[in-house]
Amino acid sequence: MIPHISEDFDQPSTPILPVGAEDFDGWLSSQSELVKNWVAVQDFKTKSGSHLVIPTSEGDISLVLLIAEPDQWGIWSLAKLPSSLPPGLYRLDAELDERQATDVAIGWSLATYNFDRYKKNDREYASLLLPANADKAHVERTVFATNLARDLVNIPTQDMGPKALEGAASQIAGEFEARQMNIVGEDLLTYHFPMVHAVGRASAQDPRLIDIVWGDADAPKVTIVGKGVCFDTGGLDLKPSSAMLLMKKDMGGAAMALSLAYMIMHANLPVRLRVLIPAVENSVSGNAFRPGDILTSRSGKTVEIGNTDAEGRLILADAMTAADEEEPELLIDFATLTGAARVAVGTELAATFTDDDELFDLIEKHSATEKDPVWRLPLWDEYRSLIDSPIADINNSGSTPYAGAITAGLFLKEFVNKSKSWVHFDIMAYNTRERPGRPAGGEAFAIRAMFAALKEKFGK
Ligand code: BES
Ligand code: ZN
Ligand code: ZN
Repeated sequence: MIPHISEDFDQPSTPILPVGAEDFDGWLSSQSELVKNWVAVQDFKTKSGSHLVIPTSEGDISLVLLIAEPDQWGIWSLAKLPSSLPPGLYRLDAELDERQATDVAIGWSLATYNFDRYKKNDREYASLLLPANADKAHVERTVFATNLARDLVNIPTQDMGPKALEGAASQIAGEFEARQMNIVGEDLLTYHFPMVHAVGRASAQDPRLIDIVWGDADAPKVTIVGKGVCFDTGGLDLKPSSAMLLMKKDMGGAAMALSLAYMIMHANLPVRLRVLIPAVENSVSGNAFRPGDILTSRSGKTVEIGNTDAEGRLILADAMTAADEEEPELLIDFATLTGAARVAVGTELAATFTDDDELFDLIEKHSATEKDPVWRLPLWDEYRSLIDSPIADINNSGSTPYAGAITAGLFLKEFVNKSKSWVHFDIMAYNTRERPGRPAGGEAFAIRAMFAALKEKFGK
């Protein structure tokens, strides 16, 4: 079941008729007086993407006119329609190739997402007949994976703490018979994840490391790590209320990791997948880790705590060390890591860091075709000295706020040694404004681009 996409081809449906802006006058001249009058009184503007419901003489809907440039079908080209058309079944009267048909269906369905878990509403959406040539399985996995990421981010921490995040991961793992191991509480010390424990120990809910493995053991190893800070108070370096307000979304990296993992497993990509999610709550308590503490990481490197609010890189470092020990072909991490990345590229681009030019070219290519924007920032090695510590191997926060997203990336890089290739995404995981198909709230970032890149790199 794909939300608001129908395969009931026997059902009557209303056509959506695309007409180019320059062909509009010609189209109108062939219409009845009734239609001409209707168009005149609507004061219809032939702007690309605008639409008009055209009535029959009986007062039913005859068709939906859509101003569209010929052959310019992208993921969001119909995304305004599901919420603006009267509920019912529609079909697109156009010849689309597989890519276009698939994209249009994905965009339509994504536009019908409605987070109504805590406030029921009677919002209704129009449905679209699955366009001919669409890759139904790809529509299904993309929509499911995106809405999964949205839900995980939108659900407030009270219902999406470390334990619930583990449960959500189990559901996904269970669906594809992946193996899952969770290292919880004091066991994190036994199994050498000291920084996951240190960051998460002040919470009433035990910190944990979620470890999922799937696929043929001999296939190329792809490992995804996601920052799972279920709430980030900042710790003892407490955030001001305005900065804390949205911090339920600080497990956005974990949401992306599960979302991308879902797509990989659903598509049965020939890889050996591992997903590592350090899940914690960065809380304030008598046993909280402190500014000035020096933690010994899983890798053995010592880390001076310059700021307890730079917690994401600490838990990621231990998880990425574990990932790196297996020498994967590709290590991917997603994290709502820095405010600085948002200052640099805003909320709607995924700041992307990698030393692998070939990998970045591949991601960028698919980012363009998937309309899933990424922007590369440098792992500028000369800035490494900004996170030097006089009394430990490294400091978790820079001596200056400048280049904060880069120094965070350089911090992570210290823990990646044996992986063949590594890419780091510093993302918002949230729409701060509404756009067609993308409601305000939790959102998937870089998932479509990364899935397409993986498919090209590792697919059969
Ligand atoms: N979770 C935040 C980063 C964040 C803030 C992401 C707002 C998206 C929107 C992270 O844990 C954090 O607080 N980072 C600090 C690091 C600093 C103390 C070195 C930051 O970015 O200010
Ligand atoms: Zn923080
Ligand atoms: Zn954080």
